[in-house]
Amino acid sequence: MTARLIDGNALAREVRAEVAGRTAALRTRGVNPHLAIVLVGDNPASQVYVRHKMADSEATGLAATLHRLPSDTPEPALLGLIARLNADPTVHGVLVQLPLPDGLDARAVISAIDPRKDVDGFHVANAGALATGLPGFRPCTPWGCLRMLDAIGLALRGLQAVVIGRSNIVGKPMALMLLERHATVTICHSATADLAALTRQADVLVAAVGRRHLVTADMVKPGAVVIDVGMNRVPDGEPGAGRLCGDVDFEAVRDVAGWITPVPGGVGPMTRAMLLANTIEAAERQTA
Ligand code: GUN
Repeated sequence: MTARLIDGNALAREVRAEVAGRTAALRTRGVNPHLAIVLVGDNPASQVYVRHKMADSEATGLAATLHRLPSDTPEPALLGLIARLNADPTVHGVLVQLPLPDGLDARAVISAIDPRKDVDGFHVANAGALATGLPGFRPCTPWGCLRMLDAIGLALRGLQAVVIGRSNIVGKPMALMLLERHATVTICHSATADLAALTRQADVLVAAVGRRHLVTADMVKPGAVVIDVGMNRVPDGEPGAGRLCGDVDFEAVRDVAGWITPVPGGVGPMTRAMLLANTIEAAERQTA
């Protein structure tokens, strides 16, 4: 079997077109949907991510403002900026790029964001809303993964879903979203005794660990849907050194799986698109 590809770029284009339409509709009511991005310090990867988020917003018609702060910013100054953005009715979404420099407490900073503007879906109020089945903002990566499963018309009810990884940003919310859709969900992690035995039962397998070739062909049930959240680089000295790759041994697993997401061009573009979806959602809710 050769797996069918779930094209994250194509689906992200659909999401962006949807967001652009909703943005235009809000503008006719005099609302200018606006995302504020806070970047503290000069982490090179964060700078790239933030540049993408700004460009995506502007390409979709959303206003985006970047607030850059030096890496030695005291926490009260950062919290003060967040308080001002929370209180500003022209700002609908507030995102603080992570990781924060040493000395800044990410939990305290995220807790300071108004949950109604928390378009990352990281605030405990939004995490709790997801855990208890209430409406709220969903973290962009698992939200994008769910959208990909919907795009292939997969009915999740009763399926076995296995999520590898238990981060607050991906693994845990992904598991909760699958559970909300009535899948039977197993979360695997670094202390899981026999990972392969569990993954082989999965109708839907989500890999979100950050380890290249973590998922090999023998770990995948024939016909399974495989979602690869990993973002790794091929190490020096190997063919394709420096190229982006996921957690899944794509070339081998595609012969076993029924559907698979590529890296690049899978989950990554969907994560970016879902931030725009959350931002327009925030603007709509705040101006309804
Ligand atoms: N750093 C890496 N991914 C993310 C993300 O999705 N949101 C924020 N705020 N920071 C990140």
